[in-house]
Amino acid sequence: MIRRYDFGQPIQTGAIANPVPACTDEMPRFTVTRSGESITYTVRLGEDDLIFGLGENVRGINKRGHIYRAWNSDDFSHTENKSSLYASHNLVLFSGATGVFGAYFDDPGEVFFDLGYTSGDTASITSVNGNLTVYVLEGDTLIGLVKEFRHLIGQSYVPPKWGLGYIQSRWGYSSDEELRKVVREHRDRRIPLDMMSMDIDYMEAYKDFTWNHNNFPDLPGLIAELKADHIRVVPIIDAGIKEEVGDPAYDEGVEKDYFCKKADGELFVGAVWPGRAVFPDFLKEDVRKWFGGLYRPLLEAGVEAFWNDMNEPALFYSTEGLEEAFRKADALRGQNLDIHTAFALKDAFNNMANSMDDYRRFYHEVDGKLVRHDKVHNLYGAMMTKASAQGMKDFAPEKRHLLFSRASFVGAHRDGGVWQGDNSSWWGHILMNLKQMPSLNMVGFLYAGADLGGFSCNTTEDLLQRWLQLGVFTPLMRNHSADGTRVQEIYRFRNWEAMRDTLTVRYALIPYLYSEVMKAAVKNDMMFRPLAFDYPRDDEACRTEDQILLGDGCMIAPVYEQNARGRHVYLPEDMLLVRFRTWADYDLVPMKKGHHWVKLAMNEFPLFIRRGHVIPLARTAQYVEAIDASQLTLLGWLDKGTAITLYDDDGVSAQFDLNAGLTVIDVQVRDGKAAAKAEGRTVDASRIVIG
Ligand code: NOJ
Repeated sequence: MIRRYDFGQPIQTGAIANPVPACTDEMPRFTVTRSGESITYTVRLGEDDLIFGLGENVRGINKRGHIYRAWNSDDFSHTENKSSLYASHNLVLFSGATGVFGAYFDDPGEVFFDLGYTSGDTASITSVNGNLTVYVLEGDTLIGLVKEFRHLIGQSYVPPKWGLGYIQSRWGYSSDEELRKVVREHRDRRIPLDMMSMDIDYMEAYKDFTWNHNNFPDLPGLIAELKADHIRVVPIIDAGIKEEVGDPAYDEGVEKDYFCKKADGELFVGAVWPGRAVFPDFLKEDVRKWFGGLYRPLLEAGVEAFWNDMNEPALFYSTEGLEEAFRKADALRGQNLDIHTAFALKDAFNNMANSMDDYRRFYHEVDGKLVRHDKVHNLYGAMMTKASAQGMKDFAPEKRHLLFSRASFVGAHRDGGVWQGDNSSWWGHILMNLKQMPSLNMVGFLYAGADLGGFSCNTTEDLLQRWLQLGVFTPLMRNHSADGTRVQEIYRFRNWEAMRDTLTVRYALIPYLYSEVMKAAVKNDMMFRPLAFDYPRDDEACRTEDQILLGDGCMIAPVYEQNARGRHVYLPEDMLLVRFRTWADYDLVPMKKGHHWVKLAMNEFPLFIRRGHVIPLARTAQYVEAIDASQLTLLGWLDKGTAITLYDDDGVSAQFDLNAGLTVIDVQVRDGKAAAKAEGRTVDASRIVIG
């Protein structure tokens, strides 16, 4: 049951796809209080209540005990003291003594989620601007609430099947030769690979929709050559357009009045990679249409995938902010700086980036009215994604597009995926990657994944290896790192063969993973779930933060500690441990409900299959299009028969029918042996454990 309540003058965010009528009765569950413009929604918490939601954010899957802020932020240091990352996904779900319920706060501005931080027994959610719609969700189960919510916000984006392939990426690949070399190293060593990212280095002076003709003399030729090797390139596009007369995007945007302006009618200028830049007003439909059209030359050059970056929007400084910092510095020049003035001088420059003052300096046009940026800040990236998705759909309406963004808001889950931003080569960030997966699924983002190996800081061989072992299961699987950090392509390391072996498991699992993504999208379901969703009466399961469920039948539990050769796992029911080394080399160990220490050598990683379920493995391949899903090996632990349904299609058509693509794989146990059949496929049941 979903009830809608409007407050003030809500701005249309585009989050909702299937609207429900507004209610006029008193809002259930929450106490509403106003103070100036802001509105606070308060709920009392039982001692053991759990709180889920908030999509891409810091800390636990259970969000209780911290304060979070809906404010899309370019912050490369994802430490626990932060309260926001790149996205605002304002869904909270409560589970406890008074049942399960939740709320979605459809507000494009700043919202605080104090979830038992100020006072342990109270959650209070404060909209700073007080113009929003709140949807209150009630039901019987957490997954039921999510399904209702997902129906409200509409079907999730589905990637092409090749989008589940491995992406090698690095900020710093700056020529066609460099890309070729990286591809060659993968192919020569038989490390599977489907895509190569191109970061800002491919551009001419960091200008969107250009490329550097010296370093990429024939980009269409390069794209075709790599495509012939079954590799697609994925160029980056940034939100800001370089302020440069003569640059076609800048000139046309100025002429047509497409960029954000200040109150005095002058263009707002902020700096990003190209230096001074201007910002398209993505909140306007004609601007989105125009911006989406700018992707066309790259699409015509053969590009089929993009990543959108810096779209919070990130601002290194503004004209005004920089001036102000210099003024402060000039005033202090020549003085003997005490501790306070020395820090104030440093802060004058440090605080120049992404400052609230700047976000209050410029405006958008929404429904013909000017709205100050800070009131709609969290929509900016989502609207950029919408523009790009439209541009890609207009170019090839019959095909799915591959698109992922850094900033997002609910609604963007219909247009593309997300990568989880600038993490670090820290062990704790493997765990953060894991924890964000179910939370992202709650708000509709299925195509998601983190920078494997870590973006900032120097990776280590073991960290990359363990992180890849988690990445095997995330729909977006990309190794990406920052310029200036230690190189981290798999082949750079002594143990590259073990990492390659890990990737072979990914490719063998793609028919299963693809089927799970597609089913989750069409059925508004979660591909990844916290254990609390399936075992609500098992307190240990409810408080487990380092294991998550995958699909109907599996659980994943990555190793995320340095030098560990195993980990503790809690099994909420009997499960079969598949201890993978390669796609064809694994142990099958039936395990009973309860606590276990699972040994995992560096080249081993676990997948747990619930007793009574089976999952399919295909022969591995070097790229997704080479996977042959007509021959499958089944893994599972059965005492009776079971059936699984596997979805498949051509992997690229924009139109698809879930029912038409389902194959039922029927497994029967007779005389202590498993036998399986499925129409049009050969299925090998000899690895199924019986008993
Ligand atoms: C920030 C992005 O988050 C990162 O992935 C990228 O490498 C840099 N920008 C440079 O484009």
